[in-house]
Amino acid sequence: MSTALFSPYQVKNVTLKNRIVMAPMCMYSCYNQDGIVTNFHKVHYASRAAGQTGLIMLEATSVTPQGRISNEDLGIWSDEHIAGLKELTDLIKENGAKTAIQLAHAGRKSMTDGSIIAPSAIAFNEKMKQPEEMTQNQIHETVLAFKDGARRARDAGFDIIELHAAHGYLINEFLSPLSNHRTDEYGGSEENRYRFLKEIIDEVVDVWNGPLFVRVSASDWHEEGLTPEDYATYAKWMKDQGVDLIDVSSGAIVPAPIHAYPGYQVPMAETIKHKGNIDTGAVGLITNGLQAEEILQNKRADLIFIARELLRDPYWARSAALELNTSIEPLEQYKRGWVF
Ligand SMILES: Cc1cc2nc3c(=O)[nH]c(=O)nc-3n(C[C@H](O)[C@H](O)[C@H](O)COP(=O)(O)O)c2cc1C
Repeated sequence: MSTALFSPYQVKNVTLKNRIVMAPMCMYSCYNQDGIVTNFHKVHYASRAAGQTGLIMLEATSVTPQGRISNEDLGIWSDEHIAGLKELTDLIKENGAKTAIQLAHAGRKSMTDGSIIAPSAIAFNEKMKQPEEMTQNQIHETVLAFKDGARRARDAGFDIIELHAAHGYLINEFLSPLSNHRTDEYGGSEENRYRFLKEIIDEVVDVWNGPLFVRVSASDWHEEGLTPEDYATYAKWMKDQGVDLIDVSSGAIVPAPIHAYPGYQVPMAETIKHKGNIDTGAVGLITNGLQAEEILQNKRADLIFIARELLRDPYWARSAALELNTSIEPLEQYKRGWVF
């Protein structure tokens, strides 16, 4: 039976063999605190590729040391990071998947040693550090750090780049009025709050002509915060700048409660897809093949991002195929064990 989940997806020069994406998940496994790929990353990502996931997206990978969530995050702030990342992209591709990396800066949610930076000097909560308000010079340096990260990602052989603009990290902190209280041209109006991301996208596309995704928190889960409708507007601007797909998550900009249930973020992906006229990825408590197929067939999103279920089941693609009463090809080496 032909299914939407196992149909190919083309974006620019890259074709994914199916619509399944391994969602970015921090593994905090750079034990030397140098941001360099370790053996754990090689086993972890290559296993999900062997499990027939179409696209493997690496975890939040920091464009500066200060932008790490923890000291053990992956990094891409120096050319010394390229070799390990290249080994990873080679391993993932050898096992049949395409590769993506999520470029990130944690802003006021960084728990690294030393000072931290944000658009405004407002701590996330009483337990987190007080950030320094970024000067325009620091803003410019950080924009260029994303550009350098994109160049290194290109040199490491990634097929797709995603910018992390969600979950209350630095780019999200500029976008949301809850965390951005600036009075210069980077704060205030919707256009001004978008300026930091706009500049990052412009610099990234200067060194990267492959597919570009952006992950957003489409709802701040707060009555004075942003909504999927606001993000549909941002999505149109992003599309005009060359962004191909919005990966639609939500929350974590302020400590507000989130009402989560199976597929709870799918309506947000649907709103941005149709009102923003751009492809979207759906993520969040999507755990089985039928659920994924419903989202794609009803044109609520174009890709399905799976996070925790892929930690439990690296062969989730096969499990989903069984649920959809279809079959998929395994790695050549596994054919004798691949029963449908
Ligand atoms: C261990 C773990 C680490 C995560 N790290 C990231 C990350 O680096 N970047 C990101 O955008 N989201 C991150 N997330 C969020 C996931 O990508 C995903 O959006 C979330 O877990 C909901 O999807 P799920 O219900 O399929 O797990 C993480 C989630 C988990 C469980």
